[in-house]
Amino acid sequence: MTLGLELRGLDKSFEPENPVLRGIDLSIRRGEFVSLVGSSGCGKSTLLRIIAGLEQADGGRVAIDGREVTYLEPKARRIAMVFQSYALYPHMTVAANIATPLIMSRLHFLARLPLLGALAPGRRQVRSTIDRAVEEVADQLEIRPLLGRKPAQLSGGQRQRVALARAMVRQPSLFLMDEPLSNLDAKLRVHMRGELTDLHRRVGATFVYVTHDQVEAMTMSDRIALMERGAILQFGTPSELYSAPANLRVAQFIGTPSINCFPAEIDSAGTVSCLGRPVSGMVTSETRQRASLAVRPESIRLSARSEDVVFGATLRRIEHHGSEYILFAEPQGRDQLVRIRVSGAALEGQPLAEGQALTIAFSAADAHLFGSDDRRMDVSLFDAPVRLQSA
Ligand SMILES: Nc1ncnc2c1ncn2[C@@H]1O[C@H](COP(=O)(O)OP(=O)(O)OP(=O)(O)O)[C@@H](O)[C@H]1O
Ligand SMILES: [Mg+2]
Repeated sequence: MTLGLELRGLDKSFEPENPVLRGIDLSIRRGEFVSLVGSSGCGKSTLLRIIAGLEQADGGRVAIDGREVTYLEPKARRIAMVFQSYALYPHMTVAANIATPLIMSRLHFLARLPLLGALAPGRRQVRSTIDRAVEEVADQLEIRPLLGRKPAQLSGGQRQRVALARAMVRQPSLFLMDEPLSNLDAKLRVHMRGELTDLHRRVGATFVYVTHDQVEAMTMSDRIALMERGAILQFGTPSELYSAPANLRVAQFIGTPSINCFPAEIDSAGTVSCLGRPVSGMVTSETRQRASLAVRPESIRLSARSEDVVFGATLRRIEHHGSEYILFAEPQGRDQLVRIRVSGAALEGQPLAEGQALTIAFSAADAHLFGSDDRRMDVSLFDAPVRLQSA
């Protein structure tokens, strides 16, 4: 199977001793929508620019649709790039903005001149093909009525669509987008998310989408590559990153409100304890180290079962989120706020007040265990209490 994009061992530093990308490997299927996420400065834009050919890597290879492009010029790569700033030409109409990439690639220098060009052989035919291509993408993005306007006469979302149309007009097989929605207001951003997902389905091209917004990545992507300090911590589907994070930092990056982390210890027998109490039913094959037990806010309960890890806590704050509540509770003797997500229905007939005492609990089955190096640990879960087999 041909890959839409293949990256092998990409390294980059702008200053010696300060690597920005460290051995990036990534295999993206044709037609896949992949997001690169990670905090500011982790190397997302640099990686995208290397894929586009706007920046050279110090080492490694890039292949697009099975063709090595590592040393090719950007325009020879059949890619389209959409940036955060749409970079439209302000003096040109929308139609001329969209047509520019085709004019640059299909008409040679002389034929592009306004007066002399009119005499160039075949020019009229090429122009009419270009005009048709412009109208076609304008229809796809529903901006045909705007073709005669200048960028200053458009809303933010319309400008964004013009920038997309200009990227689409050359029918690239790979779209590279660097935070294309971050200049839009919150409501329009949500709307454009849906439009981009629809567009991806319609054109069937490979999309690589950079964002630092994990919600954007979770809602739009087939797979997400989560980056930190120039390396990929995990590459997987949104649900893999959410329910089986490979690393504590992935667990903390994905999900709002963010996952709860409790200090834990593993003894020489592989028994896990959390805040001084054994976590019943959980053992690991690894031994003696400090660890972290991480539990999603929706997995914390306000009533305990026999096998649960249980804390006494004080309710510090209640946030209303429509159909659900986020509670912030402080476990006794700990300077930490535990985030708990509960549905409004679950709280019916059980009024809560800030300052009141709570029992908070979770079961081993809902907890993720990470070792001292932040790596996810395999655990065995058994139903507690363990019953001995009678002879
Ligand atoms: N041309 C350059 N010269 C020197 N350093 C650079 C250059 N471009 C990027 N860097 C550095 O490389 C690192 C990664 O930058 P990059 O722009 O790839 O981050 P990013 O993940 O896109 O961040 P953001 O989310 O803020 O856009 C940063 O520390 C940045 O300062
Ligand atoms: Mg960036």
